[in-house]
Amino acid sequence: MGDRVYIFDTTLRDGEQSPGATMNFQEKLRLAQQLESLGVDIIEAGFPASSAGDFASVEAIAKQAGATVQIAGLARCMERDIDRCWEAVKSAQNPRIHVFISTSPLHMEYKLRKSPEAVVEMAVAGVKRCVGYTPNVEFSCEDFSRSDKDFLCHIIGEVIAAGATTINLPDTVGYAQPAEFAALCDYVIKNTKGSEKVIYSVHCHNDLGQAVANSLAALNVGVRQIEVALSGIGERAGNAALEEIVMALQVRKDFYGLSHNITTEKLYPTCRLLSMIIGRPIPLNKAIIGANAFAHESGIHQDGMLKNRETYEIMTPQSVGRTQTHLIIGKHSGRNAVQQKFESLGYHLTSEQLNEIFTAVKDLADRKKTLHDEDLMALVQQEIYRIPDRIRLRHVSVHSSDTGGMPPVAAVLMDVNGIEKNGAGFGVGPIDALFNVISDLVERTPELEQYAINAVTGGMDALGEVTVRIRDKGLSAIGRGTHPDIFVASARAYVDALNNLVKREEEGERLHAQLETNPA
Ligand code: KIV
Ligand code: ZN
Repeated sequence: MGDRVYIFDTTLRDGEQSPGATMNFQEKLRLAQQLESLGVDIIEAGFPASSAGDFASVEAIAKQAGATVQIAGLARCMERDIDRCWEAVKSAQNPRIHVFISTSPLHMEYKLRKSPEAVVEMAVAGVKRCVGYTPNVEFSCEDFSRSDKDFLCHIIGEVIAAGATTINLPDTVGYAQPAEFAALCDYVIKNTKGSEKVIYSVHCHNDLGQAVANSLAALNVGVRQIEVALSGIGERAGNAALEEIVMALQVRKDFYGLSHNITTEKLYPTCRLLSMIIGRPIPLNKAIIGANAFAHESGIHQDGMLKNRETYEIMTPQSVGRTQTHLIIGKHSGRNAVQQKFESLGYHLTSEQLNEIFTAVKDLADRKKTLHDEDLMALVQQEIYRIPDRIRLRHVSVHSSDTGGMPPVAAVLMDVNGIEKNGAGFGVGPIDALFNVISDLVERTPELEQYAINAVTGGMDALGEVTVRIRDKGLSAIGRGTHPDIFVASARAYVDALNNLVKREEEGERLHAQLETNPA
């Protein structure tokens, strides 16, 4: 057992299963790229047998991945799942198949309707089929924490003999408590034949708020892989948060004495990218990455900080990528300064991307005195990482008034499939007017499921970040828009959602409700 902890990220699989976290093909590719540059050891890219969309994105992520990261796909212990999974991951330089089956009495009896011995047979057959494709095979005992400990030793011993090289012990329903969970892992590791040949892993859910604590507790008994998701997204209450696990290892190296491969300065930009993609703001009090995580409000704390930072700060904002560099970007900044700033925020731009973002930065700096890091990150994510759109907004103009006689009115100029269109119309409020006009111009009227507005930074000239979710014919899509003018941000978000809806239709990707199977 070494002192290296392997970080297995499941944002794109377990994370994406969580309600409202659906990502499209391009977004998954972009996030996988970012996870790779963050330094995760294994990316679980999806569940290829679950849908054509998942298969396609896992395959594309496998193809784009470099040599330093392993790309895993999930599969049940079923021939078809395993074959599809291998098809999808095989072009990665380091592919992994991750098979799972339930091991708790409850799951075996009610979910699988199989006897324990039949489950062992399926597990062994599944692992053997994987080994026919690759030596890199992970086996998971679903609902491990509610399984019988001696049955666990038996089934795990059998799958190790069949060739599994990583054994994952999930707290699938977030039921375990840290000392108890560590004791069960310890028992299994000590009493299973062949334990010394494999890496043990944990995968903890957060139903009782213990996902991170349980995962860290398991390190003390020899577990060396932790399965995590960015910002802790995942089924129900989510998975262990990547950034919390990594910073616990980093800040408390004195306690754990273990190393990892994560570039911690990229944690915040990566979580921020996820937040932009899924349209979910990071909660203010979220550990490591929340806006308040490094804010000191009380006088006593501020006084202490001024005397010695360490009185109230156990890590620096810079160490997690919340840069406060002296490089202030404004309308007089040159290309070099802008490039350096983005580098410091974790974005390595090509010269073509730099040209694009440079113009956008200048444009924003004309409207806004101070550009904060968050403004720049919002900009790069909106301007650079978007997919070419069919619908493009050119100009909007909105009139609102508090006099009853004149309802709010909006006028819009846009390109729809290359054709210039314009129109004007009324609404109950100015946003309603805007969305009505845009809907008329694109000739579709999706249902508006969610509208949220958030100030990206403080101050009167803060950049407004609008997120909308729309639904049409059983498919839903999220759109985001940022601009100092909240009407423009709203129009951009609505148009972005319409574009995403079109892309989703083109990809033929169905929402999670239509998955043929639904793993934990
Ligand atoms: O929570 C769980 O048990 C899972 C497995 C498929 C690893 O997600
Ligand atoms: Zn899970």
